[in-house]
Amino acid sequence: MEEWERWERRVQTAAHPVAYRLMRAVAARGPAVRVPRVGVVVSDAGLARQVLTDTEAYTKTGPGAAAALWSPVLGSRVLITLEGAEHAALRRRLGGLFTQGHVAGVCERVLRAPLGGLERRLAAGEEVDLVGVVRDGAAEVIRELVGLPAGGSDFTEAAAVVSSVRLWRRSLTGRQLHRARAALARLSEAAVESYRSGDESTVPGRLRALGLDEAEARGAVGLFLLTGTETLVSFVPRLVALAHDTGRGPDEITDALVEEALRVTSPTPVMLRSAARAGRIGGVRVEAGERVVIVTLLCTGAYGPFSPERDPSETAGLRRLWFGAGPHFCLGMPLAMAETRAVADALRGFPDLAIAGRRPARGVLIPAYARLSLRAAR
Ligand code: HEM
Repeated sequence: MEEWERWERRVQTAAHPVAYRLMRAVAARGPAVRVPRVGVVVSDAGLARQVLTDTEAYTKTGPGAAAALWSPVLGSRVLITLEGAEHAALRRRLGGLFTQGHVAGVCERVLRAPLGGLERRLAAGEEVDLVGVVRDGAAEVIRELVGLPAGGSDFTEAAAVVSSVRLWRRSLTGRQLHRARAALARLSEAAVESYRSGDESTVPGRLRALGLDEAEARGAVGLFLLTGTETLVSFVPRLVALAHDTGRGPDEITDALVEEALRVTSPTPVMLRSAARAGRIGGVRVEAGERVVIVTLLCTGAYGPFSPERDPSETAGLRRLWFGAGPHFCLGMPLAMAETRAVADALRGFPDLAIAGRRPARGVLIPAYARLSLRAAR
């Protein structure tokens, strides 16, 4: 096994020691397999797309899917707990926050100072933990995007709640629910105040102008906090490690390399749906109310090892499945790409960047490094 692959496996198994091995074993039995108490496990990109785009038959709102997990915390009117016309209407209203022009401006404003600090410390020969830099930077970006004041520990608390959810849980435990609600309530207090005053210079004020009611605005703030940090904390350090482990410097992190890294890391490794009615997925019968587990990591991994020089047409058929497919396709993709590029650009001036130490995070929902220490050759 090559160096990059060994590290990627360690990251996956540290996060999900049992589920990772189980899913690989299940996938070896076929593209769609029924697993008792888990659901129908899908590991083929074509079947995955079929499920994700057929929202009449497979929803996020039925038993075992995302809504059951998150509605008690975020409310019932957030993107990941709605389907159909209601989902489309809310998504249209929120879309303006994530246009390329808007997120580029936010990243430029917010990340200039932390990334400048990263460059200065590396230039001075210091060891820098990239995970910490990405976590703080991504948190600040979301704070700015949703109009929350800087500072405070509630953010870390909210992130801890995301990490503590286990893959196969159908609902949050009482303790998780309590912690999540308390952290998000404190976080969104300021947002709700801006919402009430309707000040359009703040994002919550703008959400109101866009036609969101208070519950929707509060839910949007919570959702962005939950989705907008741990995904990048997962991806960006793994991207830099992948380049390093395949003998490339950060100056060789091209757009094509980023796409390949997204494919092989697939930061959100599974997507959950609930069958609204009985049907078939790739010949396997699905009962109404049964859970469908799309193992994105295996769907995208089937296209071969990390190989940034390959002809992009070989993986074009995936159509960025690592960001989902159909109406729930990642709303934050432009932001994720802008933040990734900003970090890669900051590291570009250090072609001999070395990894001084690293540690995969144990027992987390989204596989990641807990620490990735970088040092530049003087
Ligand atoms: C590399 C980073 C990221 C990856 C791989 C990723 C992946 C995904 C995937 C796979 C989905 C669809 C889940 C499903 O259909 O069940 C999704 C949805 C979503 N993502 Fe991302 N994401 C990333 C970064 C972000 C960021 C930075 C934000 C910013 C807030 C964000 C916000 C969202 C939202 C709001 C949704 C729900 C969309 C809807 O239900 O309509 N994501 N993401």
